[in-house]
Amino acid sequence: MTSTVICRSAALLLLLLVPSSLATNAKILIYSATADFRHDSIPTAVQALQSNGPSFDIQFENTEDKAQFTDQTLAQYDALLFLDNTGEVLDDPAKVAFQNYLNLGGNFIAIHAASDCLRNTTFYGHEVGAFFDYHPALQNATVDVIDNSHPSTSMLPAQWHVQDEMYNFKSDPRTIGATMILSANESSYTDTGTHLDQGIPHPTAWFQERGAGVEGDALAGRSFYTSLGHLNETWQDDLFLAHVFGGITWTLQSNTTLAFNSSAQVGNPLASTSSTTSPSGTSTSPALSSS
Ligand SMILES: *[C@@H]1O[C@H](CO)[C@@H](O)[C@H](O)[C@H]1NC(C)=O
Ligand SMILES: *[C@@H]1O[C@H](CO)[C@@H](O)[C@H](O)[C@H]1NC(C)=O
Ligand SMILES: *[C@@H]1O[C@H](CO)[C@@H](O)[C@H](O)[C@H]1NC(C)=O
Ligand SMILES: *[C@@H]1O[C@H](CO)[C@@H](O)[C@H](O)[C@H]1NC(C)=O
Ligand SMILES: *[C@@H]1O[C@H](CO)[C@@H](O)[C@H](O)[C@H]1NC(C)=O
Ligand SMILES: *[C@@H]1O[C@H](CO)[C@@H](O)[C@H](O)[C@H]1NC(C)=O
Repeated sequence: MTSTVICRSAALLLLLLVPSSLATNAKILIYSATADFRHDSIPTAVQALQSNGPSFDIQFENTEDKAQFTDQTLAQYDALLFLDNTGEVLDDPAKVAFQNYLNLGGNFIAIHAASDCLRNTTFYGHEVGAFFDYHPALQNATVDVIDNSHPSTSMLPAQWHVQDEMYNFKSDPRTIGATMILSANESSYTDTGTHLDQGIPHPTAWFQERGAGVEGDALAGRSFYTSLGHLNETWQDDLFLAHVFGGITWTLQSNTTLAFNSSAQVGNPLASTSSTTSPSGTSTSPALSSS
């Protein structure tokens, strides 16, 4: 349906590809600090998120300063987005604030190498879904859509050809409650390594309705993770960006933030819940009229 739309504006095309978003004036903090390997695509990724944010009524702020992880600062955000983080990127006080944020219904998004940081921090591994183990060389591969009902996959071809790193993980994200949506087709690329038990089909992107990093039975927000996104070129690809923005807009609809719940303790106080935009692209949503 949307694949037949021909459009000159990349932002508008992206908007048409992604199922409608519901939270308006959402604020997301991108955290892109690294302590080990640093991806040179981080600036391209931040730019792609920030420049497309207005189409979805999302304001992205970006920091690499762990001192921003305080209760007061994190509480303003509808979601935290960890981008390509590696190694020990938070200290103990920052981890406490992060855990508090999750316990108050805060939402979480993680992309690509963000599964390779805070490797000894159990709540972080649970919130992402699994820790990164290793990847074979960057190469072309096919990723299978195994659940096309999710807003992050509904626009993708059933067999998605990508040039990216096919990550292996230290555990199976399904064991902590994640739902798999993308799976690397292991016959479509070369991996001579030996992977740990990460479950079948191969985990590549997933979501958690109730982010497992939360403590006990505290109110839990949503969590979304995609392991794709290594190259600059990937972050310039509308289909990849539609996948990412579909995941982000789904995550924001947890209903645990101020956009949905006036007694919520996290989220942009100026956020609100809007009616859906028409998938045909003929709606008069503020996102369309401002682009
Ligand atoms: C990716 O883009 C960044 C600028 O955003 C640039 O510094 C870097 O060299 C690029 N990487 C490659 C491999 O071209
Ligand atoms: C993580 O745990 C391993 C094994 O106990 C230890 O060698 C390493 O120093 C720890 N890393 C950090 C950053 O705490
Ligand atoms: C790998 O995929 C890219 C596009 O994603 C394409 O340009 C390139 O030709 C492919 N390489 C091979 C060896 O198939
Ligand atoms: C997996 O990749 C192989 C090799 O490219 C291909 O023959 C096969 O049809 C693919 N299977 C699926 C389910 O995508
Ligand atoms: C909030 O979301 C949860 C999980 O999807 C759902 O069970 C609950 O009914 C929702 N509450 C409201 C008020 O929409
Ligand atoms: C609304 O927020 C309050 C305070 O965090 C929480 O106790 C309540 O469960 C939330 N309601 C829903 C439907 O999520």
